[in-house]
Parts: sequence; C-alpha cells; structure tokens
Amino acid sequence: DRSVIYDNHGRPITYLRLSVTDRCNLRCKYCMPASGINFLPRKELLSYEELERLISILTNLGISKIRITGGEPFVRKNLIDFFSVISKNDKLEKVALTTNGTLLAPYISRLEEMGITSINLSLDTIDPDRFKKITRRDQFDRVMDSFHLLNESAIPFKINTVVMEEHNIEDIIPLAELTKKYPISVRYIEEMPFNGSGGNGPALTWTYDKILSHLKSRYLNIKEIPAGPHSTSTNYQIPGYRGKIGIIAAFSRTFCGSCNRIRVDSKGTLKTCLYDNGVLNIKEVMRGGATDKEINQLFRHTFKNRAKNGFEAERRRTQNHNPIEESMALIGG
Ligand code: GTP
Ligand code: 5AD
Ligand code: SF4
Repeated sequence: DRSVIYDNHGRPITYLRLSVTDRCNLRCKYCMPASGINFLPRKELLSYEELERLISILTNLGISKIRITGGEPFVRKNLIDFFSVISKNDKLEKVALTTNGTLLAPYISRLEEMGITSINLSLDTIDPDRFKKITRRDQFDRVMDSFHLLNESAIPFKINTVVMEEHNIEDIIPLAELTKKYPISVRYIEEMPFNGSGGNGPALTWTYDKILSHLKSRYLNIKEIPAGPHSTSTNYQIPGYRGKIGIIAAFSRTFCGSCNRIRVDSKGTLKTCLYDNGVLNIKEVMRGGATDKEINQLFRHTFKNRAKNGFEAERRRTQNHNPIEESMALIGG
C-alpha cells in the first residue's frame, strides 16, 4: 500500500484542488463583482514548472487525486500541455477538472485520450437570458456545445449548479430532468460567501433542506443513494432516470470530519481548509531556493497542524460581521 499522510485529527490527505489562474471570462454573481477582481500579475502565479514540481512533491506525500480549478482553467495558456504532463504521473489515480465550459470544446477529445477521470461543468441555468444575467456574459451557446460534446465523449461528468433565489429557481426541475436522458450527475450547491466583494454574503435562502423539499414536491419517489466517504454531496436518484442528483450543503453543514482535501490557490498559497487564510506560501519557499526535501518537511508539518473544524471558525467570523472579501476564483472552490 502506498504511503498516505494522516493529519493531526486522523484524516487522510489525498486530494489536491489546484487553482491555476484567478482569471475568468465570466463574471458569475456569486463569485465576482461585475468589474472583476484585482487579477494577479502573471509572475504571481506558479509557473507550469513550479506546479509540476509541487505535484511531484505532493504525490510523494500521498496525494492521489488532483482537481484543476480556476478562475477558468482554460483561460491560462497551454493548459492542455500541463494536463498532458500530469496525466502521465502514475501516482495520480484521479485527474479531474472543474470548468465553466466556455473554452472547453476544442480540448475534449484530447482530454479523453489522456484519460482524464472526470469533469465538473458549472451550469446554473438552461435558459440563455438567465445565463446572461447570472454570468454577465453572453456565452451560453458555447457552454451547451461543450455539454453536448461531453455527452458524446466517454468522460464522466457532473453539472454544478449554485442555487440562487433571484436567479435560477425555475431551473431546478429542468436541470434534474437532464438526468432522465443523460447518465450524468446534477449537483445543486448552496451559495457560499465568496463573491469577491465582502458585504454580508448570500442570505442562504436555498439551503440543502429547501432544495431537497423542492425536488421531493416534484419527484415524490426520489430516493437517497450511497455517496463516497469523502463526498461533498448527498446523492439521490429519480427512479427510472439514468443519472443522479446531488445536493452540496456547502454552507449549512460541515464536511470537516471527513475532509481529505487541501488547496493551492492561484497565488501559490497552501490552504489546509477552505476557510483558512493560507498556511504556507509555497511560491516564496520555492523561489527562495528550498530543496524538495525541505518543502516535503514543511508540508508534513502543516498537515500535522490542521484545524479540526475550520467551518466553525468561519461561522463565528460571519456572526461577528466580518465577512470574507475573497473571490472563489482565487481559491478555486
Ligand atoms: P468531486 O471530486 O466530483 O466530488 O467534486 P468536488 O465537489 O470535490 O469539486 P467541485 O469543484 O465540483 O466543487 C463543487 C462544489 O463544492 C463547489 O461549490 C465547491 O466550492 C464546493 N466544495 C468543494 N470542496 C469543499 C469543501 O471542502 N467545503 C465546502 N464548504 N465546499 C466545498
Ligand atoms: N458558492 C458556491 N459555489 C461556488 N462556486 C463558485 N463560487 C461559489 C460560491 N460563492 C462553484 C462554481 C464551480 C465550483 C468550483 O464552485 O460554480 O462549479
Ligand atoms: Fe468564472 Fe467560475 Fe467565477 Fe463564474 S464561478 S466567474 S465561471 S471562476
């Protein structure tokens, strides 16, 4: 069996979420203000060489799943070549991508050939006008092109839908209906307070419970099905339908107890919890000339000093009216 590191609370650390850019060609309301955020200058991103080095150190420490996130990952030049490199890393059992789908279509067949394990496509609505209101861009057709190409490919994929009272409640049932025809997962996500503008954050009107009762009122016999041990979603199926439905209680519940994930944000900072402010500046350490062995030791140290329940700290912060200023585009979700 390969070596895996357990943190100071007994949780295995096996999943890296890596944000390769904070830039995006959409401006989703739950992620950024219309004006965007202060995007990082290019030299503030880890280079592909630095990212490859990082991945090599982390896979030696037991990371076996990587998810490439952004911003929109394909806004970064030559991303497909980076995929080609990481898909050859034998220690990575799973190589996944979260994308908005606007730039994906030309790369789907190559990603399929490389054996990418799964793609999560952000799609909040099936209506072009609502799409434009939510994302502030007119790119719906491109996303749907990617959706159809993904369906023709062998790549397993999921849809991520952030549920927002004023924007896409009418989409909940039509999106669930996609699982009738397609063997995909559609996952509804509670909106989290990472919209890049601080303020009071979302009202969290559409909680897990509310989304579930909305689905139950239409699908009386919807049934819960098992989910993996580190899954963020609780899963359901509508009898007779090919696909699955998931609900991600991203803000009303905590996944801390089974959290196997770490993040490296687009400025090269390690986060051992979505809600920490960064526990290790990897970019500074690498550019300062540290050896692989030294970096390995620093990772081990941070893994052994992980917060038990970062979400509780977040709840206290929110209650103290001290909202998050960060955009999800920097962190990668
Ligand atoms: P799978 O690997 O397919 O299970 O995907 P995933 O859920 O790990 O990743 P994805 O990028 O598709 O994220 C889906 C939603 O879950 C996004 O809104 C993320 O921000 C959210 N999410 C992912 N990890 C965490 C977490 O540790 N805590 C919270 N609160 N939300 C998370
Ligand atoms: N709350 C919940 N999910 C979000 N995402 C982006 N911003 C938020 C937010 N504020 C989702 C995107 C993408 C995933 C990585 O995170 O829709 O699918
Ligand atoms: Fe771009 Fe994703 Fe943020 Fe939307 S949620 S603006 S697609 S990074």
